[in-house]
Amino acid sequence: MTTSAPTFPPGFLFGAATASYQIEGAVAEDGRSPSIWDTFSHTPGRTFGGDTGDVACDHYHRMPADVALMQELGLEAYRFSVAWPRIVPGGTGAVNAAGVAFYDRLVDTLLAAGIRPVVTLYHWDLPQALEDRGGWRTREVADWFAEYAAAVAGPLGDRVKHWTTLNEPWCSSMLSHAIGAHAPGRQDPLEGLVTAHHLMLAHGRAVPVIRQHCPDAQVSITLNPTQVHGPEDPTEADLDAVRRADNALNGVFFGPLFHGTYPEGMLEDVAHLTDGSFVHDGDLAEIAAPLDNLGVNNYFPTRVAATPQGAEPQGGLHLLPGCERVDEVAPRPPLTAMGWEQSPASHRLIVERSARESGLPVYVTENGSAWDDTVDADGQVHDPERVAYLMAHLGALADAVAAGTDVRGYFAWSLLDNFEWALGYDKRFGIVHVDYDTQVRTVKDSGHEYARVIAAHRDR
Ligand code: NOJ
Repeated sequence: MTTSAPTFPPGFLFGAATASYQIEGAVAEDGRSPSIWDTFSHTPGRTFGGDTGDVACDHYHRMPADVALMQELGLEAYRFSVAWPRIVPGGTGAVNAAGVAFYDRLVDTLLAAGIRPVVTLYHWDLPQALEDRGGWRTREVADWFAEYAAAVAGPLGDRVKHWTTLNEPWCSSMLSHAIGAHAPGRQDPLEGLVTAHHLMLAHGRAVPVIRQHCPDAQVSITLNPTQVHGPEDPTEADLDAVRRADNALNGVFFGPLFHGTYPEGMLEDVAHLTDGSFVHDGDLAEIAAPLDNLGVNNYFPTRVAATPQGAEPQGGLHLLPGCERVDEVAPRPPLTAMGWEQSPASHRLIVERSARESGLPVYVTENGSAWDDTVDADGQVHDPERVAYLMAHLGALADAVAAGTDVRGYFAWSLLDNFEWALGYDKRFGIVHVDYDTQVRTVKDSGHEYARVIAAHRDR
């Protein structure tokens, strides 16, 4: 992997990203109600070591110091998410002024530091009160989400101009309802599909609400498309497996959001699960509400093959609707601590495809890698693998831009080591190390390197 500094056009935005439940802690403060992740993480066996977000990075109390750290790194933008259970603790109804006040202070602190706030409305912490009413499985959630969007865009829309409705709806639907690895931990392929549809409907219904409260908003959604590779010498069955996996991973969102329809053949592939009646008249038009840009989170490619006749499917993808005979094939080393393949070339391909399919400018709203970092005797955190990953992916992105793809920015995942969902605190993605006993933050070598990239870009 190369470490030469990649170059980007003037105006290209460099930032870092986090999410509310992963960093804030303070789960019972100032009127916040429990979310599905509080319930899930407190359920024995659901997360690594029983880890929860109760304290996390204690960002709720340390926000000013964390913003100062961002300023030190030279970040131009900060992507964070708002916790629905802080804003509307009941899920619908009364707005909690103390919850709004936290994000109000965060936005003001960022702006005073010259850092652009990029807000995600939903990064997976659905109020448990709404899960108890059917969560993403019920159509009503679309209206609940639009109501919540108004409760955030109303007070913040005068200062926040970058709005993202949902983060990785694939994870909130397929990973959470079909594969069952994330809250609420259900395993039903049809629920995966139906919740994906309701998430998109909620998105489509929130877009005009955001615009109403913030007429000059840049509105987007963040997806996590992944490049799907088949075997090098594929059979017909392998090609079909690639097509099905691509539909269940990518097309299920690209289709309705950007082409006004589900991908060709996809609803036929799931005819044994549904007659498609979860799609109501008018839904597809609402879902395809025009956007200003597309957020892409991408870390690794996916390798698949057809399950051989008579064999049991391998990996977890066969739990996805229409993928019953799709094998997940082992990634190619060297792998990150997550076991993820590192492929800057695949990153470039999926960014280019995302731009093509959406017809929108793209922001890479997350990219990064986990490694087993430790603070050395010299008090520093040396993470050469993360530096190499960062520079190689920035290089691939710069190549995509040079070849004509409209990419407007890059956000490193993550600013801080944090609660990595089902994997708890075991996996560290930060460019800043967090000691969870003391809450001391230490900028890693990758953080220093990223700061140099940003400074070089600024001074060009
Ligand atoms: C994507 C998710 O948005 C984020 O919450 C997560 O921590 C990273 N991927 C790393 O897995």
